[in-house]
Amino acid sequence: MEAVPARSYWMEVYGCQMNVSDSENISGILEAAGWSRVEDPDEADAILVVTCAVREHAEIRALGRITQLGASRGGRGRPVTAVCGCVAEEHGSALLERFPVIDHAVGPDRYLDLPEILEGGRSASIGHGDHHYEGVVPVRRTFPRSFVTIMRGCDNFCSYCIVPYVRGRERSRPAGEVLAEVASLASSGYGEITLLGQNVNSYSSGGTGFPELLGRVSGAAGGAWVRFVTSHPRDLTRGLVETMASCRNVCRMLHLPVQSGSDSVLAAMNRGYTRGAYLAKVRMLREAMPGIVLSTDMIAGFPGETEGDLEESAALLEEVGFDYAFLFRYSERKGTAAAAMDGPVPVRTRLERLHRLQDIQGAVTRRLSAGLAGRLVPVLVTGPGSRPGQTLGRTAGNRAVVFEGTPAPAGRFVLAEIESGDGWTHFARFERELGVSERFEACEAWAGADR
Ligand code: SAH
Ligand code: SF4
Ligand code: F3S
Repeated sequence: MEAVPARSYWMEVYGCQMNVSDSENISGILEAAGWSRVEDPDEADAILVVTCAVREHAEIRALGRITQLGASRGGRGRPVTAVCGCVAEEHGSALLERFPVIDHAVGPDRYLDLPEILEGGRSASIGHGDHHYEGVVPVRRTFPRSFVTIMRGCDNFCSYCIVPYVRGRERSRPAGEVLAEVASLASSGYGEITLLGQNVNSYSSGGTGFPELLGRVSGAAGGAWVRFVTSHPRDLTRGLVETMASCRNVCRMLHLPVQSGSDSVLAAMNRGYTRGAYLAKVRMLREAMPGIVLSTDMIAGFPGETEGDLEESAALLEEVGFDYAFLFRYSERKGTAAAAMDGPVPVRTRLERLHRLQDIQGAVTRRLSAGLAGRLVPVLVTGPGSRPGQTLGRTAGNRAVVFEGTPAPAGRFVLAEIESGDGWTHFARFERELGVSERFEACEAWAGADR
């Protein structure tokens, strides 16, 4: 029998956490088929880039990377290259026509075929499926943090967004599978479990909705912290807020993308809520969980956006006081409704408006984070820092914490005093380790410990 040559792959991941989760499945699929992962692209037989199509910039960066890495390496020739993920789904075989260096385009629902694809001739494998990579054992590299996909696709068709086109229709993963994965992560010592979906609030499987799923996940997660992204404000219900508030291990934090502070822009975006309805949800959250950490996404320069609309967005950032905001300038995505809308805002104006929002949010973030100095907060130790001798951790509110020295191994929970911070990263002093039973009680305030 002929020996099968060892095959090695190198992979880089762009985009949202959904891509991170998918890349763990890609590793699971390839490694079960005898491939091994290498850290140096020059040593790899195959180069995989898992791409994001949400903004033009993200797309260009990923394609630039694969054209650079796919070039010939002298005597060793050229590696096999695969563009995976959302850009592959968007462009399909056009990628192969445009870039001779790209061998394969593989969409997000086609990874099961990767072992055969990488061995075969140039190919485009796209089109949506209705599976959830059942039976694939993901290879995780983020201990003690972990992601569990609970749904794939999106049906919302926000007018600016390409995700429903590249990810297909929304489908929820059976609750039993989600719970089994959560329980196995908890028993393997993972300290944080993040449930993933483009719109987790519309999860629905076999009669189970998201609030019920979250309650059951909280039970299965034991001593681990539970988070979830992303919540659509329209679908955030009182029932979900009550479940969050009643589950001790569900982090008091929520990413609630608002996109704009102007009712006319929100309507043109097809978001399905008004500024007033959004603010009412924020009040509901803060009443149920005082001190809850809130973050958001906002877009500057959507078609038709006026100076007055932008002022409303700026005022909303001030009014809510988000702990953190991801701010973007609008990017046309071909095929979406917004790309055909009247009144495109000049690119220079989009950028200028983005900078105005960034200045406002920067001041809010700094103010809130300075207010944390001297607070005692629980922290999950996540691993070594970028400087020798430092250790990193995360608060329940997802802020990065830096310790001098090593308070405890990755996966343990500690109580830490925040010393200083500027923005999202804080320096902290180790106080003591937290046992499982006191992990949530020890800090009465963990509900609001971050604020
Ligand atoms: N399903 C999630 C994530 C969507 S993509 C959600 O609904 O929040 C993440 C963010 O990218 C969006 O919230 C939006 O703010 C931004 N985004 C999406 N399409 C964009 C576009 N065409 N231009 C600029 N930003 C965009
Ligand atoms: Fe895009 Fe809207 Fe779906 Fe989020 S909810 S992925 S912004 S279409
Ligand atoms: Fe990007 Fe695809 Fe996620 S377009 S944001 S990687 S679903």
